[in-house]
Amino acid sequence: MSDGGRRPLIAGNWKMHKTVAETRALLRELRARPLPRHVDVVVAPPFTALAAAHEELTESPIALGAQNVHEFTHGPFTGEISPVMLHELGVRFVIVGHSERRAAGETDADVNRKVHACLAHGLTPIVAVGETKDEHLAHRTHDRVTAQTRAAFEGVDAAAAARCVVAYEPIWAIGTGLSDSPENANGVIAEIRAAVDGLASARLLYGGSMKGENAPALMAQPDIDGGLIGGASLTANAFLEVIDAAGAATSAR
Ligand code: 13P
Repeated sequence: MSDGGRRPLIAGNWKMHKTVAETRALLRELRARPLPRHVDVVVAPPFTALAAAHEELTESPIALGAQNVHEFTHGPFTGEISPVMLHELGVRFVIVGHSERRAAGETDADVNRKVHACLAHGLTPIVAVGETKDEHLAHRTHDRVTAQTRAAFEGVDAAAAARCVVAYEPIWAIGTGLSDSPENANGVIAEIRAAVDGLASARLLYGGSMKGENAPALMAQPDIDGGLIGGASLTANAFLEVIDAAGAATSAR
């Protein structure tokens, strides 16, 4: 796994789960357990829990992520959250263009503006790309994900792209319990890497029903540097199984 000196990264996307109290409880449980030193860990709670999460993560190696961001710093945008507000709360990563947000109307152009906004404000975007089941069955995966990736990084120079993260999340694998095969996921991720200058040295993740059981095989692939984890990030035990698998795959090299 993680060739070329890329540090493994395991990110938990909590989606619309966890109140403030539940966030504090889960982070305390995670902090009480040893984490492999050579794996970067990110948790992305809902906006309402970010301040509490930031407090709980004081002096922790676990980094804080958000699940969305607005492209502007401030203004008349009811219900939106700006990159400046996130940065102030200690957020360092932002999931951009998750398929659940794209399904709610977010376009490739929106994703691109959000990537630029993140980079302008010291936030690392975790850009999510992935094909639907129909596109998968019609063998359109390559075209779909390379188009999404190129659009997301339009106008981003290679050095900046290298600092970003991309997550390949086949939509048909999200929340279904059926992950992509490690070989197929690796092949698509290699294509994403080749689609944009700079992504050769960026961290590319797999997401979609990744959990303790399948993480070792996924992490053993040369182009898979980590995972974007939904369901298995919601309990300390399940999330730690994935983190430990990433740690073991790295030490096995
Ligand atoms: P699951 O791990 O629950 O399939 O979710 C993946 C995902 O959408 C992470 O962003």
